[in-house]
Amino acid sequence: KKIVLAYSGGLDTSIIIPWLKENYDNPEIIGVCVNVGQEEDWDAMEDKAKASGASKLYIIDAREEFAREYLWPMLRAGAIYEGKYLLGTSIARPLQAKHQVQVALEEGAWALAHGCTGKGNDQVRFELTYKALAPELEIIAPWRLWAIRSREQAIEYAQLHKIPIGNISKKNIYSRDWNIWHMSHEGGDLENTWNRPQKDMFQLSVDPKDAPDEETELIIEFEKGYPVGVNGKHQSPMEILELLNRIGGANGVGRADLVETRLVGMKSRGVYETPAGTILHTALRELEMITLDFDTLSMKNVLALQYADMVYAGKWFGHFRESMDAYMEESMKYCSGEVRLVLYKGNISIVGRKSPYSLYLEDLASFGESSYDHRDATGFINLYGLSTGVQAIVHEKRGAL
Ligand code: ARG
Ligand code: SIN
Repeated sequence: KKIVLAYSGGLDTSIIIPWLKENYDNPEIIGVCVNVGQEEDWDAMEDKAKASGASKLYIIDAREEFAREYLWPMLRAGAIYEGKYLLGTSIARPLQAKHQVQVALEEGAWALAHGCTGKGNDQVRFELTYKALAPELEIIAPWRLWAIRSREQAIEYAQLHKIPIGNISKKNIYSRDWNIWHMSHEGGDLENTWNRPQKDMFQLSVDPKDAPDEETELIIEFEKGYPVGVNGKHQSPMEILELLNRIGGANGVGRADLVETRLVGMKSRGVYETPAGTILHTALRELEMITLDFDTLSMKNVLALQYADMVYAGKWFGHFRESMDAYMEESMKYCSGEVRLVLYKGNISIVGRKSPYSLYLEDLASFGESSYDHRDATGFINLYGLSTGVQAIVHEKRGAL
């Protein structure tokens, strides 16, 4: 009997290996770790998994896939959860789970396991993907089954089973998640919503007050709502993300401190660093303003809210997402062009935009001489204001004066 585990090399997924062996009649444990742009000691990871009792570790480099097939559609959709969270963890889970399922099917495994707690969102995202792609496989979520309740107890369990955990500290530091889109920080002193995040907690961005005193100007190019280049140079999705993370981070851009509503209902404090994502969302919104007509854009903005909730919930694999992507693809087919922006001490200022499909016609908008006939407005307002006038008569609105 084989069990395929979503493995990260952290404390929780390390102790899950002996725990599964102990509780499921000594099965073979196969780890899967998906590279979505987090920095890890990749060379040491296989030995570490084996030292914890795994028979094999698959390390899957899914970085370009993550950027192209997950981040870009999510960005194009304008998906931001509760107006603030750029969904960095949420969007990675379905991809990680998909690769885990693929390994499980190839290996003929009996069950899938993950190290998410019973309190969070991640368990839902992993398991909705398992159910969408391989509903026949068993699901084991040790955090919902075992007696371990704290970090201290997990460390004790590791020591008892001689699991290498390196120099993990016993005190409750942050719960972090990292990929090419973002790094999240939760727990520790952030659990008090009034506590200001400590300066040295941040990993991807400098404090805005320590950012350079000079402005950094950038030009971002998009094709049909997907980023294709920076400063006149066409680049791959990963190259664009790496470059913008570096430049954005150096200018203190992309931090968000928020309290979000989890799927299980509770409010939860999180601090996020998403430098490239913040720049790209800001730039793309600007390009939409000149390339989309009012109705197409306002429908897109409505769907963006639904799209964000869908990603947050981990319902990536389903007809709903495909249907929304169909709208996004069609509505963004003219959203190509360039946006010029300035980064300065944590801020992003848009300073220019242009597109071959721009609906902005200088002649029409100009306050000078143009082909626009002012006299046409009289008839337009007569009809446009017809119902307003009728209501005024019927409801005797004048009485309100
Ligand atoms: N609260 C964020 C989300 O639900 C981040 C979760 C981070 N997960 C983690 N295992 N540290 O998407
Ligand atoms: C967890 O509880 O496993 C991490 C946080 C989350 O999933 O929301």
